[in-house]
Amino acid sequence: MTEDHYLREKIRQTLATDPHVGILNVRVQIDEKRVILYGEVSSTEKGEYARTIVQRQMPDYEVISELTPAIPPEGPPEGPYVRIAAAGDLHYDALSQGKLRSHFQKLEKEADLLLLAGDLTDTGTSEEAAVLVEDLKGLQIPIVAVLGNHDYHCNQVKEVGRILEEEAGVTVLEGDATVLRCRDLSIGIAGTKGFGGGFEGACGTLFGEPEMKAFIAHTEKISNQLKETLLSLRTDLKIALLHYSPIRETLAGERAEVFPFLGSYLLGKAIDEGGADLVVHGHSHHGRERGMTRGGIPVRNAAIPMLKKANLFYSLSPVQKRHILK
Ligand SMILES: [Fe+2]
Ligand SMILES: [Fe+2]
Repeated sequence: MTEDHYLREKIRQTLATDPHVGILNVRVQIDEKRVILYGEVSSTEKGEYARTIVQRQMPDYEVISELTPAIPPEGPPEGPYVRIAAAGDLHYDALSQGKLRSHFQKLEKEADLLLLAGDLTDTGTSEEAAVLVEDLKGLQIPIVAVLGNHDYHCNQVKEVGRILEEEAGVTVLEGDATVLRCRDLSIGIAGTKGFGGGFEGACGTLFGEPEMKAFIAHTEKISNQLKETLLSLRTDLKIALLHYSPIRETLAGERAEVFPFLGSYLLGKAIDEGGADLVVHGHSHHGRERGMTRGGIPVRNAAIPMLKKANLFYSLSPVQKRHILK
């Protein structure tokens, strides 16, 4: 048994047997001098308590809790609500015609709006955007999108955005917001592609070579813009739509080496400071669906290659702001 394996088992046993925690399904990652706890708990407080007892047990390690409160049981939300469909990482190429058309056509019955979380095309050409437009055409609900890194690849971002907006009525956001009215509710959506940089304890900083400073400065600028855009929204519900991840937790399953290229904690901080009821992102093909910001805002990774299904559906209600009902 390796030392890490022994430590993981010891932590799991502590959490399973503590009378105030009693969590059985915690995943424990040990990475250098950090311990990260993943899983679901019944409340935020219980997650913090679990982190504290593990920290006491392992004083030489930094213990990070990515434990999230379990989603409440399904059921109709109280009061008015909006039904949201979300999908990311469609990766449409020249041969994708019809790939998701049947799913898009069903959406009108199931959702009031569709969010697309970037990597809409595979290499960012106008031809690929035109193929996607053919599949989106005729959909009668509002579609709001951000672009992803793949959409930037061929330097045709403006043309890709124009095709989506003019030929399929998609609102493409980058550092700005749109306000929709659905079911007597106003919904503000702040959108940005986002960028990388990494997460607390393992992130890039504004230090060293000009290239590294430029990398982190770009993420800082985008994050500040996102925060200001969210603060400017005065709507019943606020959604942050990104391609890159604002939290580490929805990346669990990806190789740790690529975390800095999958998102940044600066985005999560900006969302907590700007305020939102839901965060949707993509980009992580091997991560997981659910997480939350440090401030308790629900985060959902909508990347189709990870979900192995075409869309996610949520109901979001101003009355039950921190509860998303599937
Ligand atoms: Fe992708
Ligand atoms: Fe991506």
